[in-house]
Amino acid sequence: MAILTIPKENRTIHEPQAIADYLAGIGVDYEIWEAATKVAADAPAEEILAAYSTEIDKLKEAGGYVTADVIDVNPQTQGLAEMLAKFNREHWHDDDEVRFIIEGRGLFHIHPHNGPVVAIEVVAGDLIRVPGGFLHWFNLCADRRIRAIRLFKDPAGWAPHYSESGVDANYQPLCFGPSHIPALAQ
Ligand SMILES: [Fe+2]
Repeated sequence: MAILTIPKENRTIHEPQAIADYLAGIGVDYEIWEAATKVAADAPAEEILAAYSTEIDKLKEAGGYVTADVIDVNPQTQGLAEMLAKFNREHWHDDDEVRFIIEGRGLFHIHPHNGPVVAIEVVAGDLIRVPGGFLHWFNLCADRRIRAIRLFKDPAGWAPHYSESGVDANYQPLCFGPSHIPALAQ
């Protein structure tokens, strides 16, 4: 289950509907998806996409997305540090950032124009949609593992634009799930 924190308010939200409601208030969509057919988290990408095709097609229609793929990141991924360094400081994209988590976890910080920065730790079963133009940044958790479906209107629109605000430096990229390492919190 996802965990939403609002660091400035010292607030943590665990209940999925309350997370969805809070995020809706800042313009971010959050849903929990269930596969129509059972699919292993390590199944080939085509099987993953087929198992969630109903939800993917619905979202494509609603959001104007034209392509979907599966991204796989683990500690052995080549160029992982460089890849993560592209997204771990405040940026926005022209396209929406749409992720449905298959396995692993990740931490999005979102910096809305109408409220404090929120951190959402997403895990398997979570769909998050950060609209184009929204300031955010992303970190992996200690296990450095995430497998996710991505949807795009145009893959080229997903290049990051950096705000260079330095706001991200005020927030610790700490996850609370099983891979949380307490020593890092000190
Ligand atoms: Fe991003």
